[in-house]
Amino acid sequence: VILTQDELKKIAAYKAVEYVESGMILGLGTGSTAKHAVDRIGELLRQGKLKNIVGIPTSKQTQEQALSLGIPLSDLDNHPTVDLAIDGADEVDPHLNLIKGRGGSLLREKMVEGACKKFVCIVDESKLVKHLGGSGLAMPVEVVPFCWKFTANKLRDVLEDSGCVARLRKDCKGEAFVSDNGNYIVDLYLEKEMGDLRVASDAILRIAGVVEHGMFLDMATTVIVAGELGITIKT
Ligand code: A5P
Repeated sequence: VILTQDELKKIAAYKAVEYVESGMILGLGTGSTAKHAVDRIGELLRQGKLKNIVGIPTSKQTQEQALSLGIPLSDLDNHPTVDLAIDGADEVDPHLNLIKGRGGSLLREKMVEGACKKFVCIVDESKLVKHLGGSGLAMPVEVVPFCWKFTANKLRDVLEDSGCVARLRKDCKGEAFVSDNGNYIVDLYLEKEMGDLRVASDAILRIAGVVEHGMFLDMATTVIVAGELGITIKT
């Protein structure tokens, strides 16, 4: 049997939910892979197999999903330490560095996952890359709407050596995509590797109009990869 990409996502998600224990404060990720994990957590709560879970959603979308499943929710103000977060990613490199945010939720994801004791990332094997930016898809950066072109040009300058093209993300109506935090997303397309990722990260964060970028460096404690040949767990 050949499994669809969505079936692989579900397999990774269900595996990650095995790490969940009753009483945990749980970071709930965003996207089509994390959605399966949130569904599963809701199901186990309903069956009474999990109890006293408090979910910390990483987007309005996940908040709505969790509410519809009856998962009790809170936030980082009330729970500054999260036991475990489960979330997808757009790219995973061999050192378990990630690119996230193609769904636009990178800021809340980074806040919640940065507050976690354990962050389990769930992907199908198509997300594995040799180096970040390697899939040819975008590296998202959340920027303030004020003079976003100025910020986009600064981003391009900072990553000039990587052959960077910066584009404002648009929604389906062709208008600027607005994040849950009221910001814009500039998608960076890189022709070449970024080199030292820490250096690139620091340089991006030094640009005043930047709120956060989608590189999640040294944050995932575990990556669960579902592929045609089974599940691989990387730590
Ligand atoms: C949301 O902003 C992202 O960080 C998602 O976690 C990421 O895009 C993975 O999404 P899928 O699970 O839908 O591929």
